[in-house]
Amino acid sequence: MGKHLLKLSDLHTDEIIAILDRAQMFCQGIDIPNFSDKIACNLFFEPSTRTQYSFNVAEEKLGMRVISFNPAASSLNKSESFYDTVKTFDSFGVDAIVIRHKVNEYYNELLGHIDAAILNGGDGTGNHPTQSLLDLLTIRQEFGSFAGLKCVIAGDIVHSRVAHTNYEVMRRLGMEVVTAGPAEFLEDSLESEDFDHAVKTADIVMMLRIQRERHAASMSMSGEEFHRAYGLTVEREKTMKDRAIIMHPAPVNRDVELADCLMECDRARIFKQMQNGVFVRMAVLERAVKR
Ligand code: CP
Repeated sequence: MGKHLLKLSDLHTDEIIAILDRAQMFCQGIDIPNFSDKIACNLFFEPSTRTQYSFNVAEEKLGMRVISFNPAASSLNKSESFYDTVKTFDSFGVDAIVIRHKVNEYYNELLGHIDAAILNGGDGTGNHPTQSLLDLLTIRQEFGSFAGLKCVIAGDIVHSRVAHTNYEVMRRLGMEVVTAGPAEFLEDSLESEDFDHAVKTADIVMMLRIQRERHAASMSMSGEEFHRAYGLTVEREKTMKDRAIIMHPAPVNRDVELADCLMECDRARIFKQMQNGVFVRMAVLERAVKR
């Protein structure tokens, strides 16, 4: 059985650093393994552009054979269950299964029944381990280390698996992490701060999309109102520290959480994050299938 990657809180910080070190080597084109005898399959039960296709690119770069899955054209439409769908691919003898699903901790019902390594591509509002790893790689490339850096994660915190994963792992790595946004999007258990103060004092301003697909009721504020009150506007960006950077897991709703013209400004690392996504996914695939 390969090594699952379900949530980063399962991993010791030494193991997280080792994954980042491998990802950095792949970023530099060093020591790329060949897993042409391995098969990966990507089971995305929720929409995805970055995670799904960067896993695909990572698998190709490692020489793996790849099965992509289209839920709309599958036997899910004949009432087959999630469990039976995953178990079917496992019975084909694949080595790694990447899964995204809307249910938090969907993987619990699979553990002990699946031989392939499960790589979590995002579970509901729970965890998004490879997103956090690519965020960490981007931060380390920028600042060299983690301890003492301040990150504000701003926006729809309560519905964000990225916020939950990053808050836990960044604090464990010695960073100061605060959240900011409208009260309805914050969580009592996570430290929060006034957004304008946080923007002025943070090294990393990480903006989040409003996850409308997870809202029970529609939000009262318009996109324009949200942008003025809680978005990273052109005016707010000017108050950031000299070396501070802007991050966002994407997809971005331009002019809602982030001003359109900031998407590719000098401080923005959003497309760098996507580039790093390929390298961290190569590293977690290697960890999953290497014997
Ligand atoms: N950041 C991220 O998970 O993007 P996708 O939903 O496009 O995979």
